[in-house]
Amino acid sequence: METKFWELKKNPEEAIAEAAALIAAGEVVAFPTETVYGLGADGLNPEAVAKIFAAKGRPADNPLILHIADPEQIKPLTGGLNANARALMETFWPGPLTIVIPRAEIVPDAVTAGLDTVAVRMPSHPVAAALIRAAGCPIAAPSANVSGKPSPTNASDVTEDMKGKIAGILDGGNCGIGVESTVVDTTSPVPTILRPGGITREMLEERLGAVEIDPALNGNPALRPKAPGMKYRHYAPQAPMYLYEGKQAAQRLAEAALHACKQGMRAGILCDDAVKTRLEGSLRRGHSLEILSWGEGKPDLAEHLYELLRDFDRLAPQFIIGMGVDEKGLGLAVMNRLRKAAGYQILLAEDDCVTVKSGKGFPEFLMLADN
Ligand code: TXA
Ligand code: MG
Repeated sequence: METKFWELKKNPEEAIAEAAALIAAGEVVAFPTETVYGLGADGLNPEAVAKIFAAKGRPADNPLILHIADPEQIKPLTGGLNANARALMETFWPGPLTIVIPRAEIVPDAVTAGLDTVAVRMPSHPVAAALIRAAGCPIAAPSANVSGKPSPTNASDVTEDMKGKIAGILDGGNCGIGVESTVVDTTSPVPTILRPGGITREMLEERLGAVEIDPALNGNPALRPKAPGMKYRHYAPQAPMYLYEGKQAAQRLAEAALHACKQGMRAGILCDDAVKTRLEGSLRRGHSLEILSWGEGKPDLAEHLYELLRDFDRLAPQFIIGMGVDEKGLGLAVMNRLRKAAGYQILLAEDDCVTVKSGKGFPEFLMLADN
């Protein structure tokens, strides 16, 4: 299939109208949102929705989010909204929050994967909003990556995964937030975060009072996540990845990187700019490391994380060592993605020693202090 590519800088209204017409005709078009790029189709047309699953190679038991442009559009999609759902819509829409609510009959089983709930979000990105309005239907859209890969946050990453498989790609530049929306189940007695994301736990608690986090998100394989998508291997770069967490994560990562370099290993290092600068100060030119960094704060890490993981696939290091951040605010979402990317191969660097937090089979030099 030929994939049309629209550069929005040139003629945005015309591009959005063409893309919307393709969606209304049952085709799949990728579009930018404030979180990540989405792979959109008419959410009330089961055949169109089936094309999304085919393009992504997505398991059929993983439901999709319906995207709307106006709060009124939610009414026909649901059996009813409780006070928590209403409060969340009023406070956080448009924005990076997805709410899980009881579904109405009209929502195809292909969208809900047969569940009796449906996930709905109203994105704040102007291109996404204009596209939904012009298409005249709720748009079902997962992230626009091939299943299992990091989500795309720019149009060239979408092109890499989707060229030839979908009808078109709207290029709206880089996504601002960089990690997906927060998914909150409002049908449980206490509202529950099924996937941490752009709206933080603290923001939700300020509005709703107590909020729970799905206990399955900590990587315990014995627990089954309530968001079906969270159970899959995800975001994983091709090289094995190890993650340092804890107060001394940055220091230990720097030491491990220098050790790997001395041994001539082609190690990938994922760190903030401060660690990168420090490392480059002690390395000779032509060293063996691939050091990729994200800036300084958690918003920078969120914005660049997927792009950096995809860069590592291009650089193909022997393995990747990364460092974590604390779990406050956006930290919960980025640590969820980083831990999944690392396949839960996690070391804790604290009190001048390194211990295994989860995983096994770590290279020995990662475990030793002062190497
Ligand atoms: O930011 C985002 O949410 C992006 C952009 C494109 O809007 N979309 C996105 O969709 O991340 P996707 O399909 O990659 O992730 C949706 C997640 C999956 O983990 C899925 O299992 C979960 O939401 N989900 C969807 N419907 C659900 C439901 N009814 N109950 C529980 N989880 C649901
Ligand atoms: Mg996804």
